[in-house]
Amino acid sequence: MTDAQKKPVNDDWYVNSWRDKPAKQLPTYPDQEKLKKVEEILSGLPPLVFAGEARKLKNKLADVAAGKAFVLQGGDCAESFAEFNAVKIRDTFRVLLQMAVVLTFAGGLPVVKMGRMAGQFAKPRSSDDETQGDITLPSYRGDIINKLEFTPEGRIPDPERMIRAYNQSASTLNLLRAFAQGGYADLHQVHRWNLDFVKDSPLSKRYEAMGKQIQDALSFMEACGINSQTVPAMRETDFYTCHEALLLPYEQALTRVDSTTDTWYDCSAHFLWVGARTHQGDGAQIEFVRGIKNPLGLKVGPHMTGDELINLIDTLNPDNEPGRLTLIARMGAGKVMDHLPALLRRVKEEGRVVAWVCDPMHGNVETSETGFKTRRFDNILSEVKEFFAAHKQEGTHPGGVHFELTGQDVTECVGGADDITAEDLSSRYHTHCDPRLNANQALELAFLIADELHTIKNG
Ligand code: PEP
Ligand code: CO
Repeated sequence: MTDAQKKPVNDDWYVNSWRDKPAKQLPTYPDQEKLKKVEEILSGLPPLVFAGEARKLKNKLADVAAGKAFVLQGGDCAESFAEFNAVKIRDTFRVLLQMAVVLTFAGGLPVVKMGRMAGQFAKPRSSDDETQGDITLPSYRGDIINKLEFTPEGRIPDPERMIRAYNQSASTLNLLRAFAQGGYADLHQVHRWNLDFVKDSPLSKRYEAMGKQIQDALSFMEACGINSQTVPAMRETDFYTCHEALLLPYEQALTRVDSTTDTWYDCSAHFLWVGARTHQGDGAQIEFVRGIKNPLGLKVGPHMTGDELINLIDTLNPDNEPGRLTLIARMGAGKVMDHLPALLRRVKEEGRVVAWVCDPMHGNVETSETGFKTRRFDNILSEVKEFFAAHKQEGTHPGGVHFELTGQDVTECVGGADDITAEDLSSRYHTHCDPRLNANQALELAFLIADELHTIKNG
């Protein structure tokens, strides 16, 4: 730790002050010397994102808080070293763009796109151990920490995995930047992919009309001289990365002083969130993120009280800066109306400016009769609808959606137009952690959410 890294930003925050706080969900590395060495190496490596980009995202999230933009966050539950290749990155990027076009059109608002990519490796677990048969081993905590493989050696936390995760994140980001700016994100092309989806979907009748309207809008713009050659926004897009701020040794090593503003940014991603298991007000993760200037997320589950939420908001955003804080509600289908309206009301009454996003994934995990951890498409959709209903009731803005999804044709969540059944799950079940929507399920959801957005827009 150099003196520069110890420089305080306020009375008591340091880039390493989290180390004095109780920490949940952090691995205990048996080889502390190796851990130190890795932290030193990571601290010397280039940042993955720039502070200026994080500030730009914060401004866009301020628009979300004001009801002038919508957020789409999505990607793997856990990125893995095994499932890492250009096709996989491209396909997830592509499905996010396709969803964004549908949502933009329906809501008449810009969609802020964030991938759970290029850093979403560390996982909180409900139990420290896992038992298979009569063997009990430490739980898998994500590829950045240990191996999924159920062996005593594999489950030992190895600090060097952080370097591999950093390198994988760097190549992922490199490709994402190329896709976003190099022509792959051309609106006409994304629309063509959507038409292909509509054509092949069992629900094509239902989606056809919107596909046609978007086509008409593009033709109209073309006639006015607005096309990919004349307007860069037609062929490029802004794409941001996000992940859970869980593994603090990694996050600290990538946290740097921004020379423009002389403040700290965690340059491992544009946006960092604190998960539902690590948001204790006096805990290490909250301590760490409160001092970095990135836009932040906070998962809000059904047990969060109004007082607890206001305290956390004040810790994370003491200046009530718009765009700084996004609250990601993950209540579970059927539970939203019991919990969310009171929180929306309280935050509004107390004048705290936040963006509200719906994560309909993490409150809806169940085990299928065939023994797989899964989620029902219908529950995911219900939770999103309940989220919209809660905002309508309270007069607040539904600011966005947060999904676990992949561009691959996996069978991990049941339901959707292709009607994946519990029996189908075993055929292409590849996730390293929670079940993800596949490309068709994700797009179908976007079309269904579009109906909700359309209703809001048109009253
Ligand atoms: C996640 O987003 O992968 C996650 C673990 O969520 P939560 O903290 O809301 O359970
Ligand atoms: Co998950």
